[in-house]
Amino acid sequence: MKIGIIGHGNVGKKLAALFSNTGHDVFVGKRNPEGAQNASGYRIGSIEQATAHGDTVLLAIPFVACEAVLSPLASAFSGKIVIDATNPLKEDWSPLSMGEQNSAGESIARLLPSAHVVKAFNSVFADVMTGPLIGRAPTPITAFLAGDDFTSVDRVTELVRSIGMSPIKTGPLMNARYLEGMAHLNIAIAVGQQGGTGVAFVYSDRTAA
Ligand SMILES: NC(=O)c1ccc[n+]([C@@H]2O[C@H](COP(=O)([O-])OP(=O)(O)OC[C@H]3O[C@@H](n4cnc5c(N)ncnc54)[C@H](OP(=O)(O)O)[C@@H]3O)[C@@H](O)[C@H]2O)c1
Repeated sequence: MKIGIIGHGNVGKKLAALFSNTGHDVFVGKRNPEGAQNASGYRIGSIEQATAHGDTVLLAIPFVACEAVLSPLASAFSGKIVIDATNPLKEDWSPLSMGEQNSAGESIARLLPSAHVVKAFNSVFADVMTGPLIGRAPTPITAFLAGDDFTSVDRVTELVRSIGMSPIKTGPLMNARYLEGMAHLNIAIAVGQQGGTGVAFVYSDRTAA
């Protein structure tokens, strides 16, 4: 797949390396790309270049930055799949309230009405986004997905599978409300209860053979 990634922090770097190392054509966009390097062979440039590159564009910037970053580029996202990996957080990682009838994912879909938004990867800590930890026995890490366009959700499901995670489709984009709640819970355990960020959700069918 041709994948653009916006953001080159913890999540952007990890997913760019995973996608690139599994054969995807990755271009990462960031604010000041001059001199930015990586060992995985993906390209780094402006946010505009990354957006133009990808049939699929993954958001790996703070949710609070999305409106300012995405609104001027809205037309460039026409027809693209947008993977929303963001979580609505305050600076101290506590939840930013979106109300009961909203989510970061749905807000981003309103900013980019001509794109197909799929919520994914937001409930996986960047610290476990490495091949050995993703695939660790007995069960790979689960990536939960939510989106309204079936074809786009299927494409992201294949992308998830290509890096060794186990995809679970949860239904329409409004389920981003619950996936973002899972991320808040993950952070509450990791930070509030000192559980650390080397952990991950695994969805396990106990009746499967
Ligand atoms: N960390 C995790 O474990 C994790 C897991 C799942 C989801 N998430 C979500 O993924 C997103 C990225 O998290 P992260 O941990 O990768 O954050 P991070 O390490 O702080 O990196 C943030 C990236 O966003 C860019 N950025 C920040 N403010 C910006 C702005 N106003 N305009 C444009 N770019 C801006 C930064 O660019 P510069 O390099 O130019 O500063 C940087 O590349 C967040 O929404 C977070 O909630 C995080």
